[in-house]
Amino acid sequence: MKKRIAVLPGDGIGKEVTKGAIEVLQAVGERFGHQFYFQYGLIGGEAIDAVGSPLPNETIELCKQSDAILLGAVGGPKWESQPTHLRPERGLLKIRKELSLYANLRPTSYYASLAESSPLRKEVIEGVDMVMVRELTGGLYFGKPSERTRKNGEDEVVDTLYYKRAEMERVIKLAFQLAKERKGKVTSVDKANVLESSRMWREVAESVAKEYPAVELEHMLVDNAAMQMIKKPKRFDVVVTENMFGDILSDEASVLTGSLGMLPSASLSEDGPYLYEPIHGSAPDIEGENTANPLAMILSAAMMLRLSFSMHEEAEAVEQAVNQVLEAGYRTKDIMTFGKKPVTTKEMVEEVKATL
Ligand code: NAI
Ligand code: MG
Repeated sequence: MKKRIAVLPGDGIGKEVTKGAIEVLQAVGERFGHQFYFQYGLIGGEAIDAVGSPLPNETIELCKQSDAILLGAVGGPKWESQPTHLRPERGLLKIRKELSLYANLRPTSYYASLAESSPLRKEVIEGVDMVMVRELTGGLYFGKPSERTRKNGEDEVVDTLYYKRAEMERVIKLAFQLAKERKGKVTSVDKANVLESSRMWREVAESVAKEYPAVELEHMLVDNAAMQMIKKPKRFDVVVTENMFGDILSDEASVLTGSLGMLPSASLSEDGPYLYEPIHGSAPDIEGENTANPLAMILSAAMMLRLSFSMHEEAEAVEQAVNQVLEAGYRTKDIMTFGKKPVTTKEMVEEVKATL
């Protein structure tokens, strides 16, 4: 197969880990007989410096014409005091909106070889295999009005949690589709005892569930979900929720089984290309050291192979290579424990390629 991939390395370690993932994809292409064409675009701080915008139109066009998008990370201290429209993070919000990336998927799975780097006991996390599905373009982060006013000498502020039924439906449907191919369970997280938006969310989940008789649906209040995720993470398969709840819970889920440097994500749209990125940021504290863990980015590329290109065997080959390299004891700094073999970013990439 021939595929066009838009590559947006971004800032800091984004560049370093993206380079590694591209090399791994080239190795996959050679082994399985695919041709991947990589086309580079600017985003984030780098784009601000070069052309004065965190997401230039050329980048948006490039993305729209691609089969999938790989994004490193954006941001850094250099741009922190800039006005809002010239902040690297603006580029992220804008690309989600421009490409209608309405669902963010974050798988959390258990690596036996990394059990010691989890803050939780091995018995609690052994066998954890869940996917968080976070609604990404609506809810509390985008609702209007969102503003501060002053009335009768008093400051007032409002944020709005706004959804259309169709927006709830598409993300909940996606969760059911995923669950159907996994363990067959959807946990829909809301705050239906307080919020009207959550009562509608629950209603929509019930009606979508009727189309998927083989999938079990449970509702859970968000505060309870935050607790269950630590106490009994194994009980979850697919978790679906509103934008802000998902922002919080997906960070919580991500630390269950290990380091930030291990965790991939995918953002899906209805008919455009999907976007893949590690969940970590640009890590300015280790930029240029050749110590960043490239595995989150490499695993994001594996998600791309599976979800955008239906290359299941190829995706599995990459995931297995990562697993084997960990089993063999290779560790970047962030996951290093006593008695293991320390490697640099580049060495880790070489190990994955060699194992492939
Ligand atoms: P961060 O994820 O960049 O780093 C947090 C800590 O984890 C740091 O100590 C870093 O060294 C470490 N770390 C992260 N990824 C790693 C990897 N692959 N290997 C080894 N260690 C790793 O988050 P932080 O420090 O809060 O933000 C730094 C910059 O990144 C900020 O400008 C922030 O806005 C931006 N950011 C960008 C994101 C994105 O592009 N999607 C997401 C999160 C933050
Ligand atoms: Mg967040």
